[in-house]
Amino acid sequence: MLEIKKRDGLGRICLLETAHGEIETPALAPVVNPNRMTIPPREMKDKFGVSLIITNAYIIRGSPDLRSRAKEEGLHSLLDFDGPIMTDSGTFQSHVYGEVDVENLEIVQFQQSIGSDFSTILDIFSEPDEPRPDAQAAVEKTLQRAKEARESHPDAPLIGPIQGSTYPDLREMCAGEISSMGFAIHAIGGVVPLMESYRYSDLVDVVIHSKMRLDPSIPVHLFGAGHPMMFSLAAAMGCDLFDSSSYAKFAAKGRMLFPDGTRRVDDLVYNMCCCPVCSSIDLEELKQSPPRIAEHNLHICQAEILNVKQAISEGSLLELVEKRSRAHPYLSDAVRRLYSHGSFLERCENTSKEGGFFLTGRSSLLRPAAERLRDRVMTNYSLPACDAVVRLPEAPRPFFRHFSSLIRKIAERTRVAVIVSSVLGPVPIELDEIYPVAQAVVPAVIQEESRDLMEEWMQRFLLFHDAPPSYVVEDEDSMDLIPSSSGPLSSIDRDTERIRRVADYQFGIGAGDALTDGEVRTVKSKRTGKIRNVFLNDGHVLSMRAHDGFFTLKLGGARILHRTFGPPKMRVIVNADASEFVREGRNVFAKFVVECDEGLRPGDEVLVVDQEDALLAVARALMNREEMLAFQRGIASRVREGLSGTSSQ
Ligand code: GUN
Ligand code: ZN
Repeated sequence: MLEIKKRDGLGRICLLETAHGEIETPALAPVVNPNRMTIPPREMKDKFGVSLIITNAYIIRGSPDLRSRAKEEGLHSLLDFDGPIMTDSGTFQSHVYGEVDVENLEIVQFQQSIGSDFSTILDIFSEPDEPRPDAQAAVEKTLQRAKEARESHPDAPLIGPIQGSTYPDLREMCAGEISSMGFAIHAIGGVVPLMESYRYSDLVDVVIHSKMRLDPSIPVHLFGAGHPMMFSLAAAMGCDLFDSSSYAKFAAKGRMLFPDGTRRVDDLVYNMCCCPVCSSIDLEELKQSPPRIAEHNLHICQAEILNVKQAISEGSLLELVEKRSRAHPYLSDAVRRLYSHGSFLERCENTSKEGGFFLTGRSSLLRPAAERLRDRVMTNYSLPACDAVVRLPEAPRPFFRHFSSLIRKIAERTRVAVIVSSVLGPVPIELDEIYPVAQAVVPAVIQEESRDLMEEWMQRFLLFHDAPPSYVVEDEDSMDLIPSSSGPLSSIDRDTERIRRVADYQFGIGAGDALTDGEVRTVKSKRTGKIRNVFLNDGHVLSMRAHDGFFTLKLGGARILHRTFGPPKMRVIVNADASEFVREGRNVFAKFVVECDEGLRPGDEVLVVDQEDALLAVARALMNREEMLAFQRGIASRVREGLSGTSSQ
């Protein structure tokens, strides 16, 4: 069983329960060749922090000595490793050598009999670009074998591989079928040739199309992903486990792995690595010792896994992916390809993050958080009644403070909507404090290189909102271009306007009107002047968070939105077993969720209700709908206030 501890988009840190203890993912399972243990598994665990290994049951079975020892003493004793061990089936050998002398059920049975923690069926490996009929036949045979293995071992923790070559629909079909069969791990297979030939963009398509149809509560393994420069990419695509023999294979050829690429040890002029091996050995000695290079490689792989986890914890995984993509030109293409799946990625993307939003290249503008901003300023924003749209240029944040005197002067002349043409897309001035607008750190070079995109996004925005004439205003001089209004100017209250716009953006159109329908009073920060609390007819309805500019919903506000929006909007529906607990302020565990709004995203404010739509609590979602419905472990929504008064925070 899998439980999410932390997440950043599709990337996640999870606890995975195994028969040999709980492990934390993402995890790298080094391949152990039972005939040639470059690094003894026990050392992998003690010195390298390896929590999981993978070995090949087909090789063990094929060697009389290993086979009888495995049968007698078990796999864990044979390899001298007391953590979880995954086993592979001989699929790869079958693919390379044309056939293997074992049947599917036989090799699954063998893996079980020697005590494998996760046994792989004998899937059919498809090459990239294989003729479609062949790929389809391979998928069908794989599915048939998956089914027979599940039927003959209904309770065994088996690994179900996804094949389908480079055909997105075959990958989706295979993933959907495998996902319904009750496997303990889903593995994406047939991708080694893609990685060996640096076809990372194609790898992205294969993995994402598989992920689209996989149950999110089952861990995903990526077969053969072993280079540390791509771990962050794999994690960002939602892969939880990787395996590879690269650490040993590269070492045998005198190649050292680094997160920014591979180097030949013979080319090293300086001993520039500070891993435990390199810092305790002379460079000349290292050059003569492939086993020490293998140790270096494993240290680097493990360190990069930690790097990936740290990035997930901080919410900076995509920043790390973009940074690592500089290691190989085709990785940069892969990042673009990843972002082209924006609507899928967006479903898992947190609505806000603690840290900054660092733009490190033009690709950064295509991150799901930025795509969401560009979408929501259309769907979740309505242009106020106005005679003109004023377009302001990119500027230091927050935009309103930067432009306040200019905006005031413009507002004296005419009724306008003020939109900043930011690098992330058009930003209505009232939304200048929300994530990621206010958090974006924008280098001048990206601004210059992205004018075409900014213009395109602005045109799309204006068209969508059927906007009146727009004027580009850079300073007070260019302000004169805007015609003065003939009629009277309405005196809008800027605070109320900001509350309305942010509420609409965050909760959906209509929320802003409902939450300001009456006498609105705000409490502001003395230090920053920003809105902190919002009262409606003296009831506390909203608090505005300083770090991301979004609202925290108070019970009073939750009641209003519950009345305003019919179900399932904003709802997380829990079953009768959980309702009393939730009403008392306890968290919503995923296993109690029976339905939920499909528009909810991790980080969203939610209304927790029972099956009769009675409001129980206000909470913050940690998962989207698919996840809340799939997971059997972990918190789906963190409750802030329950209706019967207590709170779990
Ligand atoms: N090892 C590398 N690729 C694969 C694959 O597609 N299937 C299996 N079972 N093992 C692999
Ligand atoms: Zn080193």
